Amino acid sequence: MSLDPIEESIIELSKSLSSYVIEIRRDIHAHPELKYEEYRTSRLVEEELRKLGFEVLRVAGTGVVGVMNFGGGRVVALRADMDALPIQEESDVPYKSRTPGKMHACGHDAHVAMLLGAARVLSSIREKLVGTVKLVFQPAEEGGAGAKKIVEEGALDDVSAIFGLHVWSELPSGVIATRKGPANASSTSILIRIRGLGGHAAHPELTRDPTVPAVDIYNAIQKIVSRSVDPFTPLVVSTPRFEASRAGNVIPDVVEIYGTIRAFDMSIRDRVLERIEKVVKHYAAAWDCEGSVEVVGTPYPPVVNTPELAEFALSVASKLGPTSEAPMSMGAEDFSFYLQKAPGTFIILGIRNEGKGIVYPHHHPKFDVDEEVLWKGTALHTLLAYNYLVKKPV
Ligand code: NI
Repeated sequence: MSLDPIEESIIELSKSLSSYVIEIRRDIHAHPELKYEEYRTSRLVEEELRKLGFEVLRVAGTGVVGVMNFGGGRVVALRADMDALPIQEESDVPYKSRTPGKMHACGHDAHVAMLLGAARVLSSIREKLVGTVKLVFQPAEEGGAGAKKIVEEGALDDVSAIFGLHVWSELPSGVIATRKGPANASSTSILIRIRGLGGHAAHPELTRDPTVPAVDIYNAIQKIVSRSVDPFTPLVVSTPRFEASRAGNVIPDVVEIYGTIRAFDMSIRDRVLERIEKVVKHYAAAWDCEGSVEVVGTPYPPVVNTPELAEFALSVASKLGPTSEAPMSMGAEDFSFYLQKAPGTFIILGIRNEGKGIVYPHHHPKFDVDEEVLWKGTALHTLLAYNYLVKKPV
């Protein structure tokens, strides 16, 4: 893969910033903050960006967008999410979370660090660039739809392409991947409530036990995928949380079932929701109970990457080493909201390293990242901006 002198210097600068990126990542890792509470993290980001001469905008509450204009040209956005998860960290690393019950178990700490590294590289090659970069440090990816808020506030109205980067535990360390078109499924959280009349378990005839239809509803939902859509359509319906009585001798008034629907096609999602509503209503009525279904929170649309930009990103990434086609995933990502606004692609960077014991999946209490390859994220962000703004192959 041929590199021009500017690309060579981007790679060299990124490598030389490796210890800075690791230090920032460890600092954020030790101080995790949940969605819309990223106060310390966003202050750190803001300070770093100001030092480099970026204009800083506050967005979506705890979000930060750093803007640097190099004169004329197009506007490219690079995105990192910042929030941690309500998980108790179980690793004994020196940079272990100092906040009980909170942890960076998805790698968003690394995302912030890699993009701050890119801010440094971009700032040091600013005379070589044209156009504008917007560095998007987003709050609340984990269920808070932070991306939606940023889009609605208009911070990205002038953006002509956006790239998001996520570390990935299923991919060998250092491999970079994306795919054309549909990549991540939509996600819709649901709450099913079956209301009856509770009482003593010794006298069920005096109650309207909601557990009876709830169990049938639970089982009926497992049949929706196989009976309602064609077998070549990716679809998941999971209802892992079932809350009934807390005692063996008490029949509850209410049973609640929480679940999630994952689909690439929103019309199929709608069809599944309708089927669940029918099942809940009629099964509950058969036992003189009332059933309801509600959508909880903001559904995430599917991530659908722009084919030309996915191809562009892979060709840029190949300057840094091995690349591959990312698999489709039923896991959701609120990067989808940006893609409804502007063309772009969601990219993953492998951080799995069996030799170092870095093998745990995302959202696991022992999740970690292979820090040795984080410089690649810094380099990739910068190379994407440089190629998109200056060389303009797409
Ligand atoms: Ni994540």
